[in-house]
Amino acid sequence: MKKILVWDWPVRIGHWLMAGGFAVAWLTAESETFRLVHVVSGAVVLAIAAFRLVWGVWGSRHARFTNFVHGPKVVGSYVTSLLKRQPEHHTGHNPAGGWAILLLLTLGLLSGISGWAAYNELGGDWLKDFHEGLASSMLAVVVVHLIGVISGSWMHRENLVRAMLTGIKQGNANEAIRSTRPFAAMVLLVWVALAGWILAS
Ligand code: HEM
Repeated sequence: MKKILVWDWPVRIGHWLMAGGFAVAWLTAESETFRLVHVVSGAVVLAIAAFRLVWGVWGSRHARFTNFVHGPKVVGSYVTSLLKRQPEHHTGHNPAGGWAILLLLTLGLLSGISGWAAYNELGGDWLKDFHEGLASSMLAVVVVHLIGVISGSWMHRENLVRAMLTGIKQGNANEAIRSTRPFAAMVLLVWVALAGWILAS
């Protein structure tokens, strides 16, 4: 195995913007003064989750859902390999992490939509409670995600956080992606800016 390009720009930019957006939205959730900041950061999470669902179908090799969302057999085999302390190597996301990622994207989408609806007073207190419940569930999955990233980095002897920054991971030469997809990354940034502007106005 050697160092190869695995994560394209849309995956990396989308990831860090979503992490930042979620952190800001969480920290400003209770404040009237920062209501607009909360709405814009929530819109960023929503826009990225929506883009990522599309990118999961048309994105580069390791960004595609077919590459990292697997059935119980594959997930079970991966978990067994961890328990035996002989972790299977997956060049993209591992089969257990894949489900956490799908859950994070779904929760990002649903908390964004419910937050936007509550902001526009399309529902009563039940909608605000529903929105808060979704955001709290997302925080719980983020905590599990971070535990997975730290333990995965340790078990695979590979710094996964650095890989999410540089796009480079260990893998076979024939698994490398050929392009960082800069044009799609620009589309993502324009889409996120538009969503923040439109949803907050
Ligand atoms: C705070 C909210 C966060 C959310 C909502 C979130 C969400 C996600 C999502 C959706 C992915 C999949 C990326 C993709 O395929 O497009 C991912 C992967 C990843 N995240 Fe996060 N993330 C968060 C925070 C963090 C933080 C703080 C770190 C590191 C300190 C981190 C490290 C990673 C890494 C290393 C991966 C790749 C895991 C792998 O190699 O399979 N995440 N995250």
